[in-house]
Amino acid sequence: MCGIVGYIGEKEKKKIILKGLKELEYRGYDSAGMAILKGNDITHFKAVGKLKNLEEKTKNFTSEGFGLAIGHTRWATHGKPNEINAHPHLGEYSYVIHNGIIENHQELKNELQEKGFSFLSQTDSEVIVHLFEMFIKEGFGAFEAFEKTVKKLQGAYAILLISKVDKEKIFFAKNLVPLIVGKSSENEIFFSSSDAPLIGYAQDVVYLHDKTYGYAQKGEINIYENSVLQKPKFKKLSISKLSAQKEGFRFFMEKEIYEQSAVASETLMGRVQKNRVILDDIDDSFFNEINEIKICACGTSYHAALASSYLFERVSKIKCSVEIASEFRYKEPLLKNDTLFIVISQSGETADTLQALKMAKKAGLKTLAVCNVDNSSIVRISDEILLTRAGIEKGVASTKAFTTQFIVLWMLALKLGELKGNLGQNIVESEIETLLKVPAVLKVDEKIHEKIRRLSKRYLHGHGFFFIGRDLFFPLALEGALKLKEISYLHAEGYPAGEMKHGPIALADSELFTVALMPKTMLYDKVKSNVEELSARDATILALSPLEFDIADDFIKTKGYDHPMLEFFEMSVIVQLLALEISVRLGNDVDMPRNLAKSVTVE
Ligand code: G6P
Repeated sequence: MCGIVGYIGEKEKKKIILKGLKELEYRGYDSAGMAILKGNDITHFKAVGKLKNLEEKTKNFTSEGFGLAIGHTRWATHGKPNEINAHPHLGEYSYVIHNGIIENHQELKNELQEKGFSFLSQTDSEVIVHLFEMFIKEGFGAFEAFEKTVKKLQGAYAILLISKVDKEKIFFAKNLVPLIVGKSSENEIFFSSSDAPLIGYAQDVVYLHDKTYGYAQKGEINIYENSVLQKPKFKKLSISKLSAQKEGFRFFMEKEIYEQSAVASETLMGRVQKNRVILDDIDDSFFNEINEIKICACGTSYHAALASSYLFERVSKIKCSVEIASEFRYKEPLLKNDTLFIVISQSGETADTLQALKMAKKAGLKTLAVCNVDNSSIVRISDEILLTRAGIEKGVASTKAFTTQFIVLWMLALKLGELKGNLGQNIVESEIETLLKVPAVLKVDEKIHEKIRRLSKRYLHGHGFFFIGRDLFFPLALEGALKLKEISYLHAEGYPAGEMKHGPIALADSELFTVALMPKTMLYDKVKSNVEELSARDATILALSPLEFDIADDFIKTKGYDHPMLEFFEMSVIVQLLALEISVRLGNDVDMPRNLAKSVTVE
């Protein structure tokens, strides 16, 4: 996710911008840049890769004395991660940085091109600076031109713009992605995408609301909404960096669970229209002659793969098989050229998944990576990529990466179904409508979290957990069990509910804890019978369902969405929170569990 910082004041601007960007590194990025306006000059720098490259480029530049500065880390969405696409984007005399996606950029670009504006980059962001200069050309003052620009934008944005037409001001706008503005006791102004870069600099901050915009100049912040000047609501900034990065949550994992709703919006951004899915720059012809899908992954990513296999067969009507990458590598697999080979990886560096990908490439298969880290080894090697846009995931136990992977795979299943002529237009439309509900479904319900917190004390012992479910909810059961064992160190297994009677039911007694996933939209009665079989043998049952279930020892009532995918995402958050709260009660290190690594680059 892109990061933004800005500064108005007398101090060495380059240093402030670089320090600020460093604090935003955790959001993930693939290029960075800054622009500094001092006197009559604007100087800008851009560099691909890590911040040290930008540091190197700016090493002979100093900028003391009053001026304005904006800085940006870019996480590529439109256009490759190269210098031209890095921010700031330039007009003739103005510079802009932007986080988010301008959904109507193509339409605005056509309009601007017709008026003679030329574009350098492939980004959606560049339209902002040209629109601004277009309005200046039409005779508007700087603020009016900026206001008119913002009103033309649709989508998500945090924007900072500086221009030689007004050398005292930074213009800003915010919608759907975060932007904070703060001031210091020395009348300096700071901007940032999150608290961390502001700590030690700004004392009072305003967390901008959606659809607000305005300008800041020395010691002054003017915020507008619908052309009406607002009274800024200043808050005191917390002073701990770690807690700023955790944004008040106890653990990164907890923050990442809560973040899922917001990152899901990022995952969807620009990829769905009312009646079709648009998969970034992947040309439809890439999927020609594909009759089969094979997916390889490890850990949580493997569970996302398994869940998506139900969608590829049911929704796209394409045969799909899933393999654990470390198994695939040595089984001498038979690979056919009409198979699309998909790898899924949060880090893009998992050794087994990377090797599986190399094998498929060698065998001449078309390859596609679903990955969270741009420029990672897996992304570099794959023919095509779909980035999950979850932002950096710090908790070793993966949560938001899983969610965003499954959203991307759902979109891919819809796209393939449509391309293969297996999905009617009305079905595509109604699936997209459901897809767009996912961010709301992922919002953590505080009451349910509280209930899980209370329930967790009953599940700290016993001789094991079984998470059970059917269909899509079987991979979710596997994921729920994996989450629990990763951070609680209790034994947990995920099992298909219908398979319990073929062996594991022998373990049933009151000390066997069964977490039953019982959605109302997916084989409810079948799962219910399986749970009754376990209950009859005295197993302790924790049921997750929208439908009351008398024989459950503990019951978490879900909302009862009328689509299995929505029930899936709701229950996914619940099993994540359950693992988290059990681990907290056991006093474990939630973010860095023993023996585990976030990225496993060995076999
Ligand atoms: C490690 C992590 C897991 C992760 C797996 C695959 O084992 O601890 O959380 O699911 O690697 O990682 P990847 O980055 O390829 O998704």
